[in-house]
Amino acid sequence: MKGVILAGGTGSRLLPLTRYTNKHLLPVGRYPMICYPIERLKQAGISQIMVVTSRNYIGQVIELLGSGAEWGIKFTYQVQEEAGGIAAALLLAEEFAAGERLTVILGDNLFEADLRPYLEKFLQQPSGMKILLKEVDDPQGYGIAELQDGKVIGIEEKPQFPKSRLCVTGIYFYDSQVFSIIKQLKPSGRGELEITDVNRAYLQQGNLTHEILDGWWIDAGTFHSLELAHQYTKNLTLNLW
Ligand code: DAU
Repeated sequence: MKGVILAGGTGSRLLPLTRYTNKHLLPVGRYPMICYPIERLKQAGISQIMVVTSRNYIGQVIELLGSGAEWGIKFTYQVQEEAGGIAAALLLAEEFAAGERLTVILGDNLFEADLRPYLEKFLQQPSGMKILLKEVDDPQGYGIAELQDGKVIGIEEKPQFPKSRLCVTGIYFYDSQVFSIIKQLKPSGRGELEITDVNRAYLQQGNLTHEILDGWWIDAGTFHSLELAHQYTKNLTLNLW
C-alpha cells in the first residue's frame, strides 16, 4: 500500500495568506498543515508517499519534507502545473502507484483517528474503493453522501439541497482502476476533474464501500475551519518530530 497527499490547488479561500506560500505549509498548532496527514499515513504503516503540489511552491514543500529519511518515509514529488482538480492531481500518481492500492489524503484534511482499522477493512475488499464519512453542520460546502439501508446510494458535490449531513472526507482508499476512471472523466462546470465523479463511477459499478470516521475531522481550507484546526491541534505533538 502506497500513500498520496494532494497538496496542489490555489488556496484561494485563504487569500491573502496563500499569496506567499502553499496552503498546506501554513502553520496549524505547532506544525505546517501537511505534517498532520503525513503523520496519519506513517502511523498506518505507509512509508512510500507521493506529494503532489503546485509548481510555485514545490521548492518550499521539499525544503520542509526532504527525502523523508529522518522519519523512515520515502517521499516522491510531482508538480501539478495547473489546478485542474483533485482527480487531475491524483492522475499524476499513476506511475508511482505501479498497480498497487493507494490511500489518498487531501493535504488540508486533519483528523484524530488512526487509519489502520479502515485500511484493514479496505484490504479485505477484492476490489473497488472505500470512502470515510463524517457528519458536518454545513453540508453545502462538501461532497455529500446519501445513504439508504446503510449503503451509499448517491454522492453530490457541494449540493444546494443536501440529502444528508454526511460529508465525504478527503481520505480515500482506491484500487488501481482509479486511473482508468480518471482518464474517462470530463471537466465539471468549474473546469476541474472532480474526485466526486471518480467516486460516483465506483458507486455505479457497485464497488464503493464506506465507514464513518471516528474522532474529530476538519478540512482546514477556510479561515473558519483553519481556526478550528488550531483549536483541535494546539496541544498535539506529532511523532514525526
Ligand atoms: O475535504 C473534503 C472535501 O474536499 C470533499 O468533501 C469534497 O468532495 C472535495 O471536492 C474537496 O472539496 P474542497 O472544496 O475542500 O476541495 P479543494 O478545492 O479545497 O481541494 C482540496 C485539496 O485538494 C487541496 O487542499 C489540495 C488538493 N488539490 C485541489 C485542487 C483543486 C490539488 O492537489 N489539486 C487541485 O487542482
